[in-house]
Amino acid sequence: MQPLAQMADAVLRSADGREKTALSRSLAAEWQAARKDGARPDIGRADPPMHPARPAQPELLSPRDVPRRRPGSPEGRIALLHAVAHIELNAVDMHWDIIARFADVEMPIGFYDDWVKAADEESKHFNLMCDCLEALGSHYGALPAHAGMWRAAENTADDFMGRLAVVPMVLEARGLDVTPGMIDVFRKAKADQAVAALETIYSEEVAHVAYGSKWFHFLCGRHEMDPKDAFHALVQRYFHSPLKPPFNEEKRAEAGLPPDFYWPLAVAD
Ligand SMILES: [Fe+2]
Ligand SMILES: [Fe+2]
Repeated sequence: MQPLAQMADAVLRSADGREKTALSRSLAAEWQAARKDGARPDIGRADPPMHPARPAQPELLSPRDVPRRRPGSPEGRIALLHAVAHIELNAVDMHWDIIARFADVEMPIGFYDDWVKAADEESKHFNLMCDCLEALGSHYGALPAHAGMWRAAENTADDFMGRLAVVPMVLEARGLDVTPGMIDVFRKAKADQAVAALETIYSEEVAHVAYGSKWFHFLCGRHEMDPKDAFHALVQRYFHSPLKPPFNEEKRAEAGLPPDFYWPLAVAD
């Protein structure tokens, strides 16, 4: 078995969406099988690309140039599924990237178990969204998608705690806020396949936020920092807009994100 950081690097360098997620899932299964047998596989080192490989389609546009469609229309629902597929593909790369990029920092083995599991789940989420798009006669790549989703990773490429603060604890936590509304859109349209897929995503995302919070607190402990103050400073440094209420306080609490972490960073509603 190759060192984990090299597995992560291989996923990041795989361009096609379905191929990337297939590789991601098989490498995750390899890691998990070794761990189940009680092994402590080598983490190794990698030199991951600053930008992961991506397919030629979708075309990536600045968010203001991505056409808006009414969520109540069939086209609007396809656009919504396409946007989620794009987020999930970015998330696959985000989780492998945190493994590869910060492989030189000594961490407990549970850190790697968590992000391998998260990367495997994001891969499944991407495939679920692709299945829904294909069932509706579309596919990932058929519509333009947001450029700049990788910016959070780029901004925090040299800051491990900054990465944990911004990616799982801000961006993935935002997913917990908005997914119930999305599920409602598809439930009203009686789109059962999309409802089931989004419910799977919603239930699995809580753990990703929790992994972020757990390892952020771990590093604060290691460096004798106050977690709340450190979180506020890092989000202000790397995430350049205020957080948007309403927040899903229940799921955020389940994920180990207390209100005094996010409310002080919010705009007035
Ligand atoms: Fe996901
Ligand atoms: Fe996630």
